[in-house]
Formats: sequence, structure tokens, C-alpha cells
Amino acid sequence: MCGIVAYIGSKNATDILIEGLTRLEYRGYDSAGIAVIINNKIEVFRSVGKLLNLKNIISEKKPVSNIGIGHTRWATHGKPSYENAHPHSSFGISLVHNGIIENYLDIKRNLADKGYKFESETDTEVIAHLIHSNYKDDIFEAVKVSVKQIKGSFALAVISVNEPDKIILARHDSPLVIGISDGENFAASDIPALISYTNKFIFLEENDIAVLTKDSVTCFDFEGKKTDREIKIVDINPVMAEKAGYRHFMQKEIYEQPRAIIDTIRGKYSLEEGMVLLPELQNISIENFKRFNIVACGTSWHAGLIGKFYIEKYAKIPVEVDIASEYRYRDNIIDKNTLFIAISQSGETADTIAALRIAKKKGASILSICNVIGSTITRESDATFYTHAGPEIGVASTKAFTTQVVALFMLAIYFGQRKGDLSCEKVKEMLSELLKLPELIEHVLKLDEKIENIARNFKDFSSFLYLGRNVNYPVALEGALKLKEISYIHAEGYPAGEMKHGPIALIDKNMPVFVIATDSKVYDKVLANIQEVKARDGIVIATVTEGNNEVEKFTEFCIKLPEISEELSVFLNSIVVQLLAYHIAAELGLDVDQPRNLAKSVTVE
Ligand code: G6P
Repeated sequence: MCGIVAYIGSKNATDILIEGLTRLEYRGYDSAGIAVIINNKIEVFRSVGKLLNLKNIISEKKPVSNIGIGHTRWATHGKPSYENAHPHSSFGISLVHNGIIENYLDIKRNLADKGYKFESETDTEVIAHLIHSNYKDDIFEAVKVSVKQIKGSFALAVISVNEPDKIILARHDSPLVIGISDGENFAASDIPALISYTNKFIFLEENDIAVLTKDSVTCFDFEGKKTDREIKIVDINPVMAEKAGYRHFMQKEIYEQPRAIIDTIRGKYSLEEGMVLLPELQNISIENFKRFNIVACGTSWHAGLIGKFYIEKYAKIPVEVDIASEYRYRDNIIDKNTLFIAISQSGETADTIAALRIAKKKGASILSICNVIGSTITRESDATFYTHAGPEIGVASTKAFTTQVVALFMLAIYFGQRKGDLSCEKVKEMLSELLKLPELIEHVLKLDEKIENIARNFKDFSSFLYLGRNVNYPVALEGALKLKEISYIHAEGYPAGEMKHGPIALIDKNMPVFVIATDSKVYDKVLANIQEVKARDGIVIATVTEGNNEVEKFTEFCIKLPEISEELSVFLNSIVVQLLAYHIAAELGLDVDQPRNLAKSVTVE
């Protein structure tokens, strides 16, 4: 949600800012801009729409500077427009901002009384004028005073024409990372923006202000007291953040899933001993927990719903799964006997962070499942299970989802084993099947062409229903979400057994119904649902297990998947729903990686 990038050094800042914004565009893409200092003047370049529009302006004007800040926007206050695009400026001070300022109207009124004029509808311009109103001759001091006057969430990068040798950064409830190199320093909302330049990072903590010069990084708290922030080495192969020949990031990320799953479980088990090994969980004393509470948003919430099945089945611990934005305003029954599991790809989702903090306050232990090293959620957790999916750039989550589900499967075994509910023999069996998964997924990926053909048949429908049962019910939800997100086709996911309580009324010849009918203990019931759909002229697309010749009697759109246990069938079914949504969106010529109105990382409430 909004991407920030900043550079100071001896190279041309413009090139670095544009490259950084390209890598951050997944965070927002309704307008973009940069500000650089040239000949004692701040030059601002902004444009509405995709970054390409800004790139065209830059390649025409060719600004050269050694210091600058950049921004790609996901609108909160004020619609996408030139005036609302960042950077915002006030008399020689420019800044970019990610977050929401809650008291901006009060501040705006005060500043207006002092004579400040506002060109935009944004809360960000208010901060620019506020900093200017507090500026005497030291931009660090002015930012320090200002951050104490603003309420809400912010990551800021600020430059001043009077002090062209420094960038001031500040963070409160919005992520900001500093990249360190020789004779140059960087800042960004997220590591992928900087991985071509450095592998040395400082993750700013809550209420940090940092001063970046080309040769130094100094961190302070909001009182101005110096703080020590550790430099972390994070090695991400820059190629992982490239399309590598695929048409879209989403397509590449779907295809990366076998590798991502292997990387996520690597080193976390011993097949010979029949054990899941998670030393990262040593601080979590399982014996104390009477219940687990999984909290997440979006696709991560769907992973959590699958996790409930795994944990209750293998570890026999009751699990509640909540949507973070609901959880945070509910009277939750949570105490030190609760293990709170936050699931988040980005580790920066504002609602999930807020829910985590509530649980922590009430004494719960916090375990996170996260893909981004050093993110806020991981820093505030007692333990983290990192999914090693690698950078996920496509806004619609794919490999992050399946690796979260793998993590939950491993956690369920781990807890089941520690509680004494699972024997080593059983664990050996489960691990052996899990280890076959990457190969089975490769097999499903080979069905891509068939799924693409199905997509061609269905791209013009205006509504879809997805049905699944038991552990595959959340996959139905995820399939519907994927389709909505990238193809803008209305879709609903439903537990198949509930169809008769409502959705059946929608079924007619214009309603394709995607049914997950792979082998399971409820297969017969799902088959009955398929017949009910057919009896009402609905069109069925179904996944079944290889060898099943029954369902194809009811539909020509039958996708046969390799044999696997019901528990792990979620992975194979997930690949199918991802590919179907992908191909429908691609067939419609839509912007698969950057669907309208969405952002990858939702760092505001
Ligand atoms: C946004 C993204 C989704 C993601 C959700 C939760 O809505 O578009 O893909 O599932 O946020 O994000 P998180 O990073 O917490 O998993």
C-alpha cells in the first residue's frame, strides 16, 4: 500500500528511484512521482496512472541528481490525480508518505490559519506544511517535532533544499527499510526495491527517525535519543523479482510453487526419525495452550481456515480462525493459554498487526507465519515460521498461499507430535506424502493448456460459484477470491453442503459452478451436489481424482488430478483455481499483476 523509495549517493538518483518504484509498483499504482534536488532547487515530477507515464516524463526531461525520494500511490485521501500524487512539497521541503494521518483535518485548519495554502486533498500535503511550519534551520529537528504532532500511521522520507546532503526518514505503524552500501544509502517500503543494490538492511522500528547521508545512517527515537539498529544481511536473488520469461508475475509465481514448497520445508524435518523439527518454536511452550487463534486477512485467512482442519485433526487442539479486521473490534476471549497465530505474506497488514497487539496485551503467545524477513509482524512475534516463497510481486497471492498451508501442515504435525498424539511412524508417512507434493504439483501444472481452454469457454460469464467441502471448502473461497481479484467477475465460494440453503436459487444456464470433487470422505455428497446443479441447467467445471469416470458424465469440463490424501489435495486443487483465474483474466486482456483498486500490502486500516 503505497511504495516509498529514497536514495543518496553519487549515482543518478533518478534511475535508482525509478527502478525502485518499478519493483514497488505492486504496492500501489494509481499515480507516481519523484522529487530530486538539482541546482539548489527541488524538482518534482509526477503523473497519474501507471509508472510508465512517469517513466516517459523522466526519459524526456532526464533529471540528474544525487539525492531524491519517490512514491507510487494507492489512494486513501483524495482520488488519483496529479495534485494528489506524491511527493508533496512546502517551500523547499518535499516528502513521500505511506499511511494515513488521522488528525490531518485539525492540523490542516491550524496551518490554514497560519496562511498555508493546500493544493491537494491529501493528508500528506498537510505533513509537508507542518514540517515547514516547524522548520528553523534543521530538517531533522523539524521532522522530530512534527511526528509528535501527527496521529495515525506513517512512513516518511523527507528532503530539504537547504540540506541537500541528507534524507530524513520516520516510521510509525508503516514499514520502512534502509539499504546500506559504500558511499550511498537507500530507503524503501520493502526490500525488493533495493535488492539490486545491496544485501545489507536496517529495518526501522516503531517510532524511529533516521538520518541518511551518503556515508552514514543514524537512528534516533522520537525524543531524539540515538538508538542502535542492527544491520541484517538478507540475500534475495534479484532474478526472483523478475518475470524470467513468463507473461506475468502471477504466472511465474504459480509455476514457482514446487520450488517454494521445498524451500519452506527445507531443514525442518527428519524423515528417518519421523520428526518435524522447528527450533524456531523453542520459546513457545505448547503444554500451556488450551486453544489456538489464527488471525489473518484475505488469502492468508483462507490458509488459516485450512490450518484449522490440520491442527484440529493432528494436534487435537481447538482452533478459531478470525478475519483480522473483525477480530480487532470484537470482545475476544484470549489469555495466556491461547496461542495466537498471525498469518501474513507481507508481515505488514495493518489489521493483522492490530489484532496481534491486542492478543499480546491480553497475554497470548504470538506465533507468526510470514514470508517477509524482518517485517513488523515477525518482529512483534515470539516465534516465526518463515515461508520461503521468495518475493511475491503479483497482487493476487499464489505461492505465498500454498507455502502458508505447508507451514500450517508442518505446525500441526509438530504440535501433534509434541503432545504425543502422533507417532513417529505416522509422521514418517505424512512427511513422505508431503515430499511427493512438488512432483505432483508439476504434474498439475502440465494441465495448464487444458485449463486455459476451459478459461476461454468461461471468460464471458458474469458470475461463478465455487463449491468445496471440508478442507477444500477454503480452496473454494480462495478460487472465488482469485477470480474476483483479477478478472473482476463476480464469484462466490461456498461449502458444497450449504448450496441447498441459498446459492442453489442462483443456478441456471448462466451460472458456471466450479466443484472440487477430488477423492474425499464426502465425495458422494459432492457428487450429489453436482447432480443438483445439472438438474437446474447449471454448467459444472470439476476437479476429480485420476481414475474417476463418473463426474465426466455430467460435465465435459473435468480436470483429473493425481491421487493424494484429502488433506493434501488442497494444494492440487489450489493450483487449478489459480490457473483458471489467471487464464480468464489474461484472456480478457486485464492487468493480471496489478488489478484495479487492489494493493499487495494493505498497511492502512
Ligand atoms: C491484500 C492482498 C492479498 C493478501 C491480503 C493479506 O488484500 O491483495 O493478496 O492476501 O492483503 O495480506 P498479507 O500480506 O497479510 O498476507
